[in-house]
Amino acid sequence: MIIANWKANGGFTSNIAWHKELTQIFSNDEFLDIGIAPSHIHFTQIQKIFEDSNLEVGLQDIDFSGGARTGSISASMASDAGCTFSLLGHSERRHLFNEDDALIKTKIKAALSNGIKPILCIGESEECLKARKTRDFLKNQLISALSGIELIDKVVIAYEPIWAIGTGNTPTPKDINSIHEFIKDVVQSSSANNIEPKVIYGGSVSHENAEGFFGEINIDGALIGGASLKANSFADIVKIYRKVKRK
Ligand code: 13P
Repeated sequence: MIIANWKANGGFTSNIAWHKELTQIFSNDEFLDIGIAPSHIHFTQIQKIFEDSNLEVGLQDIDFSGGARTGSISASMASDAGCTFSLLGHSERRHLFNEDDALIKTKIKAALSNGIKPILCIGESEECLKARKTRDFLKNQLISALSGIELIDKVVIAYEPIWAIGTGNTPTPKDINSIHEFIKDVVQSSSANNIEPKVIYGGSVSHENAEGFFGEINIDGALIGGASLKANSFADIVKIYRKVKRK
């Protein structure tokens, strides 16, 4: 799966231009396996302008509960609005908004019980990488968020090393592949029903480096920030994904 994470970007006029450009490249039935997570405020607009296509529209975050929680979007509200997936535990949420593994676990449960596919984001810092503690760290993030939960087979893990986000630096495709294999093993053995997840990679993915990533067997797609903001560079990555994975 290829997912655009627009973060706090986009605008009502520029979104229409983005849609126009993308639909000049792909026809409406060519969006299978493609998702967009716009800002909450643009969710309904994006859903409406892509309503004739098979694109999935999701959110960048949801809350674990509703009611007296000013500023929040609950999982049931998201589901009611037609949200099919949500990013959860993005490193920017963890660091800028102090989200911890326990909170992220409650959000995963809320997403699952409302029929929303969770895209759990995990990834190590540069310090952790340098201290050669990446695997221990990722294992801990996965177990804290998923242990004991009955997963749906559509659950997706996004491996996003923090040091690779927005920096132009990335691990090598082989290193990512081996981490993804590790993630699949950990999730399979720690979830209640032994589901092997899809694992996508995020962090400075561009049309220049995408081919190397998608050539690896355990890299099942990408979560794209900066390069998703321009419709043509996002489309180029989708085309590479289709060509390499023959989808
Ligand atoms: P960039 O593609 O801009 O590095 O962002 C990655 C990311 O954080 C996607 O969630």
